Amino acid sequence: AGGESEAPILTSLEDGVGLIRLNRPKALNALNQETMHAVVDTAEAWDADPEVRAIVLTGSAKAFAAGADIKEMAAKSYPEVYAADWFARWERLAEVRIPVIAAVSGYALGGGCELAMLCDILVAGEGARFGQPEINLGVIPGMGGSQRLTRAVGKAKAMDMVLTGRMMDAQEAERAGLVSRLVPDDAVLDTALEVARSIAAKSRPATMIAKEAVGAAFETTLGQGVRFERRVFHSLFATEDQKEGMAAFAEKREPRFRGR
Ligand code: HXC
Repeated sequence: AGGESEAPILTSLEDGVGLIRLNRPKALNALNQETMHAVVDTAEAWDADPEVRAIVLTGSAKAFAAGADIKEMAAKSYPEVYAADWFARWERLAEVRIPVIAAVSGYALGGGCELAMLCDILVAGEGARFGQPEINLGVIPGMGGSQRLTRAVGKAKAMDMVLTGRMMDAQEAERAGLVSRLVPDDAVLDTALEVARSIAAKSRPATMIAKEAVGAAFETTLGQGVRFERRVFHSLFATEDQKEGMAAFAEKREPRFRGR
């Protein structure tokens, strides 16, 4: 595994929705540096393109991603991983401003679980399994897992997962608040694309600002967050889409948002 010559990801773009498919199935989509750059470059390019209004990120049926590429990391020294700021570029995915939806089937472990948590909405199949097994390798999560898992599921389950390395099945992950929508395995990608298309039909500036406002809940006090929300809410009255959305409601018709 890992010696595939194909591209590390496959991409397509339709109706304002960009799809990124991790494409190292033999290595269970282990996230090597090449994959990281390909995913982040693509997401950043789409974020900058006003025609793209949502992104779906998926893997294969067996694995969303089984983690960072252990074989690539194994022999690295401390000065090497420090100087390269190993994994730092993944964080840029959290700065993409259009919504990103993870479509998770199979294993989402280590960096794979962290990658899913870097997305905004997580659609999972009933057979999906989540975990932060880094402790079994003598390390800890390195792509945000200790922070994002704790915010998603709370201390009790995050400590359990990060200290023992055990996996959660999809049902437990949904109950714990990690998963947005739990669906049959064969419906994962279609559901994620449907979620993305529904977002793509809305006002692009409003969906971007909505994402930013929810994200602020993780970065600020309640008072600052509520004030930020009110200010950006006010700012949407500067868009044509606000006028269109409210006029369409009054006229009992579907709105036609133009992203401005
Ligand atoms: C590199 C990996 C890999 C990984 C699987 N493979 N996970 N290669 N990095 N994270 C490779 C295997 O070596 C194998 O290659 C092939 O994919 C198929 O995997 P198998 O183990 O044979 O499949 P299976 O028996 O079905 O077991 C599936 C699995 C297991 C339970 C998911 O692969 C597994 O435990 N993987 C590692 C999970 C993990 O520890 N993830 C965290 C990584 S660390 P060959 O060549 O033998 O066919 C991380 C962050 C690190 O993500 C942060 C701190 C630095």
